[in-house]
Formats: sequence, structure tokens, C-alpha cells
Amino acid sequence: MRVVEVTAYGGPEVLCSARRPEPDPADAPGRVRVRLKAAGVNQTDLKIRSGRFAALLGELAPPFVLGYDFAGTLLDPAPGLPVGTRVAGFIPWVREGRGQGTYAELVLVDPEWLAPVPDEVDFTAAASLPLSALTAAQALDLMALPEGSTLLVTGASGVVGRFAVQLAARAGHRVIALGDADDANELRLLGAHGVVPRGAPEDVITGVLGFAPERVDGVFDAALISDPLLPVVKDGGVFVPASGERMPVAERDVRVEMVVGRPDAARLKELLELVGKGALATRVADVLPLEAAAEAHRRAEAGHRPGRIVLMI
Ligand SMILES: NC(=O)c1ccc[n+]([C@@H]2O[C@H](COP(=O)([O-])OP(=O)(O)OC[C@H]3O[C@@H](n4cnc5c(N)ncnc54)[C@H](OP(=O)(O)O)[C@@H]3O)[C@@H](O)[C@H]2O)c1
Repeated sequence: MRVVEVTAYGGPEVLCSARRPEPDPADAPGRVRVRLKAAGVNQTDLKIRSGRFAALLGELAPPFVLGYDFAGTLLDPAPGLPVGTRVAGFIPWVREGRGQGTYAELVLVDPEWLAPVPDEVDFTAAASLPLSALTAAQALDLMALPEGSTLLVTGASGVVGRFAVQLAARAGHRVIALGDADDANELRLLGAHGVVPRGAPEDVITGVLGFAPERVDGVFDAALISDPLLPVVKDGGVFVPASGERMPVAERDVRVEMVVGRPDAARLKELLELVGKGALATRVADVLPLEAAAEAHRRAEAGHRPGRIVLMI
């Protein structure tokens, strides 16, 4: 099958097309095959490719096949999902530790990672969602804020942050979104009560306090701004970074806990259904062929992308 491998740690140029044998279900009892139509390019893929996460990977080293998010067609029956079902999900790539990701024509997956894709949702939209939307949902769970709380979401113009804004507003929270000034109207339409444009930390703090003079109950830090934003959290509040790379040092009984996205088929099904009903917006920035993975990484690395870049397989 066609794959794209990370041939060595480095820049996007280390991504090279290759051929590998199709995975054999006999090698992994309980797993099922999915023929992929689309794979999302996540920020985490970029970090793994660069070598930034090498220490997390133990024995695993290049060459390996990257990729968390996928959407495609089921080739083996799974509980409640007959052969031919359109499915999406994500491979918990680091935890799996096999280096057999979704930049490939076929993957072997645990049925518990899979959710059916509603007819109204195309494969590219479906592949833009799993890791990011589940991480946003699970970050909100981790915060465990009572309904009506005031929450700051950073990186609200990005993929994870944009989901968090929408899901927090749906949960009845008052959301302050830190994002690009150009996205202010859209973020309000998605449920943000207030939008603070990105800028120097002191300007951001002033902007947030303008909407929440009492300070906020929680911060979901999808932009990994970290310590400079701690002053906006109430004493005893909660601060959840989207990665352990930039954990603030806790103060004033603020609970600091990072979120790690984990597969959750039932939750993903609900999220995909919301997308199908037009109640949750997902945004695909670019669609490129699998063989253009290096270009996809270049574009993702350059930032300022309005959404997820997806590889068509
Ligand atoms: N814990 C997990 O399991 C998990 C799962 C998924 C993702 N993540 C992590 O979550 C983070 C967000 O992922 P994503 O896919 O949403 O990435 P993304 O789409 O690139 O979003 C990040 C957003 O933050 C913005 N940003 C960067 N620095 C900023 C600053 N100083 N002030 C304000 N905004 C800033 C970026 O703007 P520009 O593009 O203009 O720079 C971008 O809009 C990444 O670090 C990713 O690795 C973690």
C-alpha cells in the first residue's frame, strides 16, 4: 500500500512516499481494517516529525508512518458497524507506539476508536474532527466547571480552540475567545460572548478583564500561552493547557492539569452528528493528495491556517 514515512527527524522534507505491506488483521486480533479516504494533519504530527517528541516514543524511531486522524470505509465488521460503513476516528499514535499511522491507504484499528460518519458529512470534514474535537470536549470535562461559568479559550482561531468555543457555549458557559481579530464576528457566531484579539500578554489580560472583571473560572489554553495568562484566573480556578509542553506553575490554588485526547467512540459519534446537523462547525483549510504530505506540513507549520489541512488518499 502507499504510505508516507518520516524517514528521519527533521523538516517537512523528511516526509517521503513509500510502499509497505498492507497490515494483516491476523497480526492483531480484535482489530479491524479501514480503507482510508482522508487523514488529518495535526500539530502533533508536526511535533513528532521534527523530533520534539522523540523522548516520548521510547524505542520507536524513524522510519515510521505518522498520522492520528482518519476517515474511510470499514473493511471488516465491527460491533454495530457492518462492512462498508463510513467511519472516522483517531489512532492514539504515541500510546500505540507502532509507528503505523494514518498517512496510509489502510489502517488496523480498535473498533472502540470508530464512529460512523453521517451521510451529510464528507470524508474530509470527518477527518478534520476526531483528535481535535475530542480533545476540546475532554478538556471541558477535565475543567468540570458548573454551567454558567466564565471560561477563556486561547487559540480560538485554531482547530482545537474553535471546537472548545462551540462546545463550551453549548454547555451553557460564558466564553471569552482569544483569537485573531479578523475572526471576531465568526467566533461570536460560534458562541463566544466576547473576543479578545491576540497580542502582548498585558493587552490580552486587559481585554479579558474587560469582559470578566471578576476574572475567569477557567482557561483552556489551546495556544499554549501558559504562565502569562494565570493572572486572569480566579483563586481556586482551573487552567488546562492543550499540551504538557507549556504547563504553568500553579499559584493561588489554581488547579493546573493538561488534557490528553483519548479515543471515545460514543462521544465522537455525537460530535459527528452535530456536524451533520450543522450544529458544530468544522473547517478544512486545504485538501492535498497523500503524496503532498511534505507541502501540507509546510503549510501547517507556517501557521495562520483557517482550519485543518487534510490529505486525500
Ligand atoms: N493534548 C492533546 O491530546 C492534544 C490534541 C490535539 C492538539 N493538541 C495541541 O493543541 C494545540 C492546538 O492545536 P490545533 O490543532 O488547534 O492547532 P492550530 O490550529 O494551529 O491552533 C493554534 C492556534 O493558536 C494560535 N496561537 C499561537 N500562538 C498564539 C499566541 N501567543 N496568542 C494567541 N494565539 C496564538 C495560532 O495562531 P497562528 O496559526 O496564527 O500561529 C492558532 O490559531 C497544539 O499545541 C497541539 O499540539 C493537543
